[in-house]
Amino acid sequence: MQAVELIRKKRDGGVLSTEEIDWFIAGYTRGEIPDYQVASWLMAVCWRGMDARETRDLTLAMVHSGAQLRINEVVAPVIDKHSTGGVGDKVTLAVAPLAAACGISVGKMSGRGLGHTGGTIDKLESIQGFRSELTSDEFVRVLESEGLVLAGQSAELAPADGKMYALRNVTGTVESIPLIAASIMSKKLAIGCSHLLLDVKFGGGAFMKTVERARELAQTMVDIGRLAGMHTVAALTSMEQPLGRAVGNALEMAEAIAILRGEGPEDVSELCYHEVAELLLMTGVVSTQEVAQERVREAVRNGAGVAKLAAVIAAQGGDPRQIEEPELLPRAPYRAILNAPRDGYISAIDAEAIGLASMHLGAGRFKKGDPIDHSTGLVLQAKVGDHLRSGEPLVEVHARDHAEAEALFAALLACYQWSDDSVTTGPLIHEIIH
Ligand code: URA
Repeated sequence: MQAVELIRKKRDGGVLSTEEIDWFIAGYTRGEIPDYQVASWLMAVCWRGMDARETRDLTLAMVHSGAQLRINEVVAPVIDKHSTGGVGDKVTLAVAPLAAACGISVGKMSGRGLGHTGGTIDKLESIQGFRSELTSDEFVRVLESEGLVLAGQSAELAPADGKMYALRNVTGTVESIPLIAASIMSKKLAIGCSHLLLDVKFGGGAFMKTVERARELAQTMVDIGRLAGMHTVAALTSMEQPLGRAVGNALEMAEAIAILRGEGPEDVSELCYHEVAELLLMTGVVSTQEVAQERVREAVRNGAGVAKLAAVIAAQGGDPRQIEEPELLPRAPYRAILNAPRDGYISAIDAEAIGLASMHLGAGRFKKGDPIDHSTGLVLQAKVGDHLRSGEPLVEVHARDHAEAEALFAALLACYQWSDDSVTTGPLIHEIIH
């Protein structure tokens, strides 16, 4: 077989056999097929798509590219939660410790920033000393001792996804249902949790721009999970505007800590608490929505959620004082306030453009391996539906210098739409797919 033949076959709309997909992924993992051929193949998949059998085969080939942990044979039940990616999406950072504080074991493998969206691992690495690259043994050890582990892609588990994820990020090949489904589900199957909650985002700030596309992605992943015997549920949630107020790594880390303390913005806090309640119901820890909600609120009230985050950070080499005192997280040297240009209600915020603006401040990568600045980003001072007077604060820009912040002002102003009439927003959770 030749890689170029498989590129041509997919480019021309052909259906790849199981053997072809296995050969291609194994060759890429071993370094025998170069990035430029894989990038070309990825673009062909973006354009031509894959049927359900090809998507399943791609997922399994990526699982088999490395070791499999079968974590549910060690700890059960053990859950995982994964978002398809959004702007200001710090949900995992709050949901995982809260769920663990409520008594569920959480074995989480997260990613780095992808496209205009931030990544959980980049946010966690705002904390000094934190180690996300764990061996399989370390993964199990931290899970057993803390009931929670927050790991990144490792060379051992689904390494094909690790390589492909970084390549997709810089070749415009993220927005594809089979590629996203295989990327997410290969990591989940490699770990082998018993329960999985997927947060599938739709809207301007998500990779799936419409709810119909998000539903298709969700169903694809739920079907793969079910076939593998993993109890998989997907929530379709809105990403029409950034989630919460903070966008950028340390800024989002601080907001996640606020959510765990019951002091976070209402939209993202409610979403987090709802997802933890769903996990408690899925795993049968509680049997009614009311009891689940109360359990979550208690873990917020008594500080168990934030204490669990500090404990897992310490177990993975990080400095827990930065959780107890978020003022110790990295801070950008320069802050500028962009003011509202007019009186009115905010009727829309372009979440994707906000994500890109944050990347321009250094919070994300434009090229593979680019370093990121954990301190930079944006804090939205007002959200859709809020009324501002001209000159009131609209966005706080956290930048490396004055010029960088001010260079963004025009682009940031263009992210906002205004109305003279009041504006209402819909619920964040659109539907749940079981
Ligand atoms: N999250 C992942 O892990 N992979 C994707 O492709 C998108 C979101």
